[in-house]
Amino acid sequence: MKKIISVVGARPNFMKVAPIHRAFKKYEDVAKHIIVHTGQHYDAKMSDAFFQDLEMPSPDYFLGVGSGSHAVQTAKIMVEFEKVLIEENPDMVLVVGDVNSTIACSLTAVKMGIKTAHVEAGLRSYDRAMPEEINRLATDAISDYYFITEKSGKENLLREGYDNEKIFLTGNNMIDSQVFALEKSKGSMVLKNLGLEEKSYVLLTVHRPSNVDNKEQLEILLDTFDLISKTKKLIFPMHPRTIKNLKEFGLYSRIEDNSEIILMEALGYIDFLALMKNSFFVMTDSGGIQEETTALGVPCLTLRDSTERPITTEIGTNILVVPSKENILKNVNNYLDSNFKKGELPELWDGRAAERMAEIIINKILVN
Ligand code: UD1
Repeated sequence: MKKIISVVGARPNFMKVAPIHRAFKKYEDVAKHIIVHTGQHYDAKMSDAFFQDLEMPSPDYFLGVGSGSHAVQTAKIMVEFEKVLIEENPDMVLVVGDVNSTIACSLTAVKMGIKTAHVEAGLRSYDRAMPEEINRLATDAISDYYFITEKSGKENLLREGYDNEKIFLTGNNMIDSQVFALEKSKGSMVLKNLGLEEKSYVLLTVHRPSNVDNKEQLEILLDTFDLISKTKKLIFPMHPRTIKNLKEFGLYSRIEDNSEIILMEALGYIDFLALMKNSFFVMTDSGGIQEETTALGVPCLTLRDSTERPITTEIGTNILVVPSKENILKNVNNYLDSNFKKGELPELWDGRAAERMAEIIINKILVN
């Protein structure tokens, strides 16, 4: 019996591992799939809600590391994850995405001689000020196998000298979760509860350090959101980092006073999916939401200088908007006039990426 451990830590990891867990059910006679949750995200709204919405079993291990500086968080995860690896002695470890849990667990596993695969490998923003870019580069540098969501990931890895035999373009696990949950999202009461008509609002999320850790940049965004809200209502589910910084910078009451901006805490997966699907358009700085809007065919403006997911701008519905007031307003005005970017579905974003991954792991990687 083979043993495979998948690691989850922060919000965007849950949607990537839920389909992996389902895909390994087909092989339960030959392989056991174990979920380890590092506890990087620990609020119910940032973690538990996703297990329920994605019908994922409770993790086999919860490491409870919580927040801290990058060094503290990464180090704590490594210490705790090492204990799990000693106890379980798995044949393979799967890490997903680009969060601190991804680099911490891949580094721990590789040094113990355990085969390690990076899921969503090869993505590059070429912006080393992003903590995620460092995590992506470092995780790819030490992993043994690479599962790829879009062709740029493969091109980047080949250019950087990685072995083609170890690279598998299997598609987008995050979209597997979307396909799985789409029907269920039709039953969400979130629009009704908020008194919203379809396509009557803009859905907004911002949480990247580059947008919310700096008071001046956050004020520029708030000024811009105020202007947009005069034309369309903004629905703004907030990441804990964003709430914390708005309060620390004394900006919270200002945004709270605008009745056309509806503030709320982070939402669960199903309600967020319902809001995304029915929005007029989406503004975000998230990595995953760029992909999810492209898969849904919903227009998206990404408030960042760069994207590591270029397929969403090349053929998807996404437009990259360097987040100055002028730039955002120029693009928003186009969208408010319904001059939307049309998009197509990228290759292999069909809801079956994790099935292809599991098949390769069982029949190619773990055969010996
Ligand atoms: C992390 C990921 C980022 C991802 C994001 C999604 C890294 C480097 N970054 O950023 O790529 O897009 O998750 O959400 O791994 N906090 C809570 N409750 C929680 C989690 C966090 O209150 O459950 C607060 C804490 O004050 C913490 C802060 O949010 O200090 C930041 O959390 P952290 O895990 O360090 O990074 P994120 O900004 O969430």
